[in-house]
Amino acid sequence: MSTHWNTENIPSQAGKTILITGANSGLGLGSAKELARKGAKVIMTARNQTKGQQALNEVKREIPNADLELMNLDLADIPNIRKFVAEFKNKFKKLDVLMNNAGVMMPPKRQETKQGFELQFGTNHLGHFFLTNELLPILEQTPNSRIVITTSQAADLKEADIYYDDLQWKNSYKKSASYGQSKLANMMFGLELQKRLEEKGSSTIAVLAHPGYTKTNLQDEMGLQGVILNFLVAQKLEMGILPQLRAATDLDVKGGEFYGPGGWRNLRGYPVLDKIYEKALDEKNNKKLWQLSEELIQGI
Ligand SMILES: NC(=O)c1ccc[n+]([C@@H]2O[C@H](COP(=O)([O-])OP(=O)(O)OC[C@H]3O[C@@H](n4cnc5c(N)ncnc54)[C@H](OP(=O)(O)O)[C@@H]3O)[C@@H](O)[C@H]2O)c1
Repeated sequence: MSTHWNTENIPSQAGKTILITGANSGLGLGSAKELARKGAKVIMTARNQTKGQQALNEVKREIPNADLELMNLDLADIPNIRKFVAEFKNKFKKLDVLMNNAGVMMPPKRQETKQGFELQFGTNHLGHFFLTNELLPILEQTPNSRIVITTSQAADLKEADIYYDDLQWKNSYKKSASYGQSKLANMMFGLELQKRLEEKGSSTIAVLAHPGYTKTNLQDEMGLQGVILNFLVAQKLEMGILPQLRAATDLDVKGGEFYGPGGWRNLRGYPVLDKIYEKALDEKNNKKLWQLSEELIQGI
């Protein structure tokens, strides 16, 4: 076995139920394949049923005995998430891994979710925040379950911050700062969640991951810049999925840890334990974001 952590290190996932958001494309689809190959029951969620079905067919073609289920989930719509969770709880009695993977990046113009939140903050953070909290009872009923949250190095950019004065970017929209805010929120949420789980003495853990720079559909909105970066910097999907797979399956992983590529500028390479970004280390701020997120969703 290689000294670098790779898919050969994934232990058997037989008997495990794993839910992946944004499983029809990129890192979500790649992760679904590897987890299915290792015997997990994989619930592939997608907001678009046709794309979801095509992705499921692709996994089935590659892994004929894959145990898969496709479910509709739109993270930009709180009532849709609530409906999804009700259906999920009807069908399944356990959840070993929730992989919060879906994401949108840098739409050139400001867009909103169904309930009027800025699209990146609303989808990447608030959608997953709500989904996770709704699924928490079933996760906590499943011994040693995990919540894996896919964040990004964009959370460590100078401009990445929680812009409390204009959280929804109504006054001035900056696509990259807004993406940075949403991915920093992912990290802060994961750490506050881990803290709360620990305080309850829960066996469920929250783990963070980032894929460095990996060529996927995510760069579609970046135009020429995306094409150039994909050519010069991007690593292959097979590498990009490893940090979140390690966070989901490595038996040595602990709650609150953060995995990312260990190679050049942490943009590429095999997954290693990474350092939590400075801006996510303030526990008071993490708690404040949690409370604010609850308030924003309340009543919807
Ligand atoms: N690729 C990278 O270099 C990179 C770097 C850092 C972090 N990340 C993170 O990695 C994660 C996966 O991204 P990716 O690179 O695999 O990109 P991708 O290929 O574009 O996949 C994103 C997935 O999220 C789904 N999604 C978007 N909006 C959604 C919504 N409202 N409800 C449900 N699903 C939704 C997409 O569905 P549709 O197909 O319907 O749009 C797609 O399945 C994201 O969280 C991203 O921020 C990626």
